[in-house]
Amino acid sequence: MASQHNGEQQTAEQLYAEQYPTEHQYAVGIDIGGTGIKGALVDVFTGELVSDRFKIATPEGGEPEDIAATVHEIVGMIPDVSPETPVGVAFPAIAKYGKTLSASNVSKRWIGLEAAELFSTTLGRPITFANDADAAGLAEVRYGAAHNHQGLVFVTTLGTGIGTALIYKGILVPNLEFGHLQYNGDSIERYAANSVREREGLDYPEWAERLQVFFDQIEALFTPDLFIVGGGVSKSHEKFLPLLKLNTPIVPAELRNNAGIMGAAALAVS
Ligand code: BGC
Repeated sequence: MASQHNGEQQTAEQLYAEQYPTEHQYAVGIDIGGTGIKGALVDVFTGELVSDRFKIATPEGGEPEDIAATVHEIVGMIPDVSPETPVGVAFPAIAKYGKTLSASNVSKRWIGLEAAELFSTTLGRPITFANDADAAGLAEVRYGAAHNHQGLVFVTTLGTGIGTALIYKGILVPNLEFGHLQYNGDSIERYAANSVREREGLDYPEWAERLQVFFDQIEALFTPDLFIVGGGVSKSHEKFLPLLKLNTPIVPAELRNNAGIMGAAALAVS
């Protein structure tokens, strides 16, 4: 694989090396979710959180200005953040050229919104903006369950929706939205997300049957080398991952609640 950079062709290896820091560098990572907004200062070389993790409940309705104000509040709580510290913000929607292009589980006002601009203005500093599953997925490959994996890694986050991320040789292919594969005339996340398991009171074997439908399709479409399953429910992985019948190895995420924060911070310095 090669890409154009300063008029020169770059190999995948150069691209990879350029994205990965080789010394300690610090950035704020913010992870916006349907129920909570979390943030911390991260050493993007090691992935380590070097501050406490701060969390505030997502404002009711998920309106853009309210969420931006909450992010501002969290950045203000983190010690040792200078005006030069890079800030990465991960958000549960398609994040393209700083705009949010979808809004499955947040206010519809996000659709088409200049989200990066809203956060930059509210915070009074530039930010890097990304999809939440992309941030979490990248973090798992850099620092977690697929540390330095050189193949094709497909990461899913099972939460309110289903987030998906694809990383090949350490390089992220952004904005995959496979939680919106169509199943029974709707997004498959409305059938198989963890929120559906909770809402419908499914037991783990019942839920695993639904996950099987999802992972069968992903496996047939991508033939990945590894599946990683994240989201809060991944701490109960032994109750459902062994029930899935796949040819691809499937492992729980390692970074749990911190993956989005770590990935958002990493993206802010790449
Ligand atoms: C959104 C994705 C997001 C995922 C997990 C889906 O509903 O469309 O952009 O990554 O939920 O939050």
